[in-house]
Amino acid sequence: MNSDELSKLYQGLLDGNRIWVEAKLKENPDFFKDLALSQDPPVLWIGCSDSRVPANEITNTKPGQVFVHRNIANMVVHTDINLLSVIDYATSVLRVKHIIVCGHYNCGGINAALSNTHFGLIDNWLRNIKDVYRLHQAELDAITDPEGRSRRLVELNVIEQVHNLSKTSAVQNSWDINKPLMIHGWVYDVGNGIIKDLKVSMKNNKDVPDIYKFNF
Ligand code: CO
Repeated sequence: MNSDELSKLYQGLLDGNRIWVEAKLKENPDFFKDLALSQDPPVLWIGCSDSRVPANEITNTKPGQVFVHRNIANMVVHTDINLLSVIDYATSVLRVKHIIVCGHYNCGGINAALSNTHFGLIDNWLRNIKDVYRLHQAELDAITDPEGRSRRLVELNVIEQVHNLSKTSAVQNSWDINKPLMIHGWVYDVGNGIIKDLKVSMKNNKDVPDIYKFNF
C-alpha cells in the first residue's frame, strides 16, 4: 500500500463518519441530542475483538443499548483489571440486566490456541484458552476433524467464560442483593450471521461451586 492509498483509507473513516451523521439526523433530528444526555444500556457484551463481530450490528441494536467490552477470544480472565472494571461499572452503576459472553466460530484466537505456534506476547493470553482445552481434553481429543474441534472449543470456551463471570465478586454481589441480572453464553456464526444461544444462562449462584461462593 503506497502513501496515497494509506491517506485515502484514513480519510475514508472520517468521511464515513460524516455520511453516518447525516443519515442519522435524517432519521431523527434529535438523535444526538437524546443520546448526549446519558446512557442506560440494559446489556453488557463481552465479545471477541474480531472485526466481523460488531455487537450492535449483529443484534440490531442502536448506540446507547449495549455496553461493550471486547478482547481476543472473548475471555473473562479473573486478573484482568480492564474487564473487571467494566463488569463492576456495568453492574453497580449502569445496573445492566444481562451480561452476554459472545464467541464466534472460526475465531483466530481459538485456532491459535489450538496450535503449538509461538506467536509472542499473545502466547500468554492464549494460555487461558489452552487451559479450557485441558479441562475438556477427552471430548476435544475425540473430535478428529480440525474444524469440528475448533468449533467445539469455541463453544466450550464461551461456557467456561460464563462460569468465570459467575465467580466474580461483582456478579455474585449483584445476585446477593437480588438485583435482576442474568449471564449468558452465545456463539456467532461468521458464515451465516446466526447467533446460537448455548443455553448456559445463570441468574443466581446456585450452580457456582462452593469454593467460589462469597459471603457478603
Ligand atoms: Co475471535
